[in-house]
Amino acid sequence: MKRSLLFVLALCLALGFSLVSPMGEARAQDINLPEPTKTGGLPIMESLAKRKSFRNVRPEALSVQQISDILWAAFGVNRPDGKRTIPTSHGNNELAVYAVLASGVYLYDAPNNKLIKVLNGDRSGDFRGAPLTLLFASTANGPVGGFHVGSAYQNVGLYCAANQLANVVTTTGVAALKDELKPDNDWIILAVQSIGYPAGSDF
Ligand SMILES: Cc1cc2nc3c(=O)[nH]c(=O)nc-3n(C[C@H](O)[C@H](O)[C@H](O)COP(=O)(O)O)c2cc1C
Repeated sequence: MKRSLLFVLALCLALGFSLVSPMGEARAQDINLPEPTKTGGLPIMESLAKRKSFRNVRPEALSVQQISDILWAAFGVNRPDGKRTIPTSHGNNELAVYAVLASGVYLYDAPNNKLIKVLNGDRSGDFRGAPLTLLFASTANGPVGGFHVGSAYQNVGLYCAANQLANVVTTTGVAALKDELKPDNDWIILAVQSIGYPAGSDF
């Protein structure tokens, strides 16, 4: 009996299989993000001067480094105690940030600097065809969720201004994935932010 188990294990290893649960299989599709770049871009006052909504983006993909930097700006860990780039009420992290990419929809896991795949398929058509759309979810119970969402999209808006990227915040797309994304009990998607290279010359 023991011998046959060993044989199966050896066969799995030889064939390159890993004995993983369905959850483990999903993990194989996760994206490990590179360390966010914490330098560069325009200085803060010039970024504030340039911040604006720009709705037309080219479909051209952003690099994984840009995606990492944008997510870190939105809700990344910026201190050893685990706290974030945005202020959070009582230090509780009542915010979930999803990234809609051509390869699927992912939940940002800030402490581990990775994207966890939650939906398959290209859903960018639901969000202006932008190469990156962030969906901000939080509790609909009280104002705190909205405060966290607002802080996160403002950080991203400033990152975009500092790095010549287009972005627009909307609430029109919040229902697009509501039946497929179930963040938590009373949590809902409160705002959507599409990001990409600007199309046209009036940027
Ligand atoms: C919470 C929120 C919701 C918004 N919803 C929409 C929207 O549904 N559609 C849209 O085109 N723009 C939306 N906007 C973007 C505003 O229209 C835009 O910020 C406004 O026109 C001011 O332009 P500016 O960002 O360039 O200063 C929204 C912005 C915020 C902060």
